[in-house]
Amino acid sequence: MSAPSDTPPTWGPLRSFGRIKSRTLKPRQAALFDTLLPKIAVPDPAAAPLDPQAMMPGAEEVWLEIGFGGGEHLAEQAARRPQALMIGCEPFLNGVGSALRHVDERGLANVRLHAGDAREVLAALPDASLDRVMILFPDPWPKGRHHKRRLVQDETACEFARVLKPGGRLRFVTDWKDYADWALERLLRTPGLIWLAEAAADWREAPADHVVTRYEEKKLGDTAPVFLEFARK
Ligand SMILES: C[S@@+](CC[C@H](N)C(=O)[O-])C[C@H]1O[C@@H](n2cnc3c(N)ncnc32)[C@H](O)[C@@H]1O
Repeated sequence: MSAPSDTPPTWGPLRSFGRIKSRTLKPRQAALFDTLLPKIAVPDPAAAPLDPQAMMPGAEEVWLEIGFGGGEHLAEQAARRPQALMIGCEPFLNGVGSALRHVDERGLANVRLHAGDAREVLAALPDASLDRVMILFPDPWPKGRHHKRRLVQDETACEFARVLKPGGRLRFVTDWKDYADWALERLLRTPGLIWLAEAAADWREAPADHVVTRYEEKKLGDTAPVFLEFARK
């Protein structure tokens, strides 16, 4: 993929994201779009079903991070688990540029990136193909008329359940109270998903393997982060 453009994509359902580019990419990051991204891009999900094992033969686990922002969390989790395939999706091109820089600097061999809508990747993944799905601080779309743009809808929740292996985990984190309630309501009614919380500490305290994200550090929401952890039956 060369010369990232400002043209908004035209595919798919309502946009669940805001800008796809905010400023000119730094020359080094722009170069990585030409040199590194072609090597680590997820195959075109519109062309054929995706096979995670073909993306990284022998991968012991497959994780999907939706909306990785600048890629700090994705890169850190990938560095901690070199045997796991880490698929990251993000339409914001400056974020993709930042993630490419992290992958390059840290020499990560287990990251694959989709510079676009995660829902395209979800639709192309086979049933029961993922161990983890991570949604960290998704765009909150706080106004009522924008709620339909939220990433978590009944349809996407069913997709998360479909692509997770039995025992696989979904993590949803937000610092917007209304979105936490919204997501909880939808995930709880999704067949195949079980909420793992037993006590308030389970949603108030970060799980042991959580990596603080750039957006989390900004504390832009109206509540402390809420951590919702679900398992696939
Ligand atoms: C508020 S930011 C948080 C970024 C990062 N997770 C963090 O915590 O720093 C939400 C991100 O989700 C991305 N996003 C929104 N809808 C998406 C979608 N359908 N597929 C992939 N990424 C999406 C946005 O472009 C944005 O970068």
